[in-house]
Amino acid sequence: MNTDLQQRIHDAIANPKNLGEMENADSVGTVGSAECGDMLRMWVKFKQDDQGRKVIDRATFQTFGCETAIAVASVATELIAGKTVDEALSMSGADLSAPLGALPPMKIHCAQLVEGALRSALAPPTDLPAAAAHVPQATTLFDQLHSGNAPANKVKVVLKPIAKA
Ligand code: FES
Repeated sequence: MNTDLQQRIHDAIANPKNLGEMENADSVGTVGSAECGDMLRMWVKFKQDDQGRKVIDRATFQTFGCETAIAVASVATELIAGKTVDEALSMSGADLSAPLGALPPMKIHCAQLVEGALRSALAPPTDLPAAAAHVPQATTLFDQLHSGNAPANKVKVVLKPIAKA
């Protein structure tokens, strides 16, 4: 991984945006990566914009994933704010991770994990990218870890919820 990309990922995870569970979300999607076993959940809240369109007001995430997945989710949740469902669904993992720069091949699935969670929240599970497998919803990611849907060797990281506005 080049140093510029490493620095952008480092900067993103030093101050991740939109991290944590969202109360009163309109939709939620969770996926697990078939490639690495990591998991990511995304919550989405909609609003009506000035033109009467239903758009994404905000999105938040939690993950048991690598630094790249956290960094991509952080920038992606900012990118999709204000977009319609169709506009957000038209974005690929590469689009969602674009602010970080091009990811190396071994990290592309990390962006696909974010894309998969977004698609799971916005569209039927049959629309998931190949690298992501749909994980049945549970109350929390911890529930899923304890249910055996995540590998035992993954470090459990407690992510603090976002402060209410
Ligand atoms: Fe699993 Fe990055 S290595 S999401």
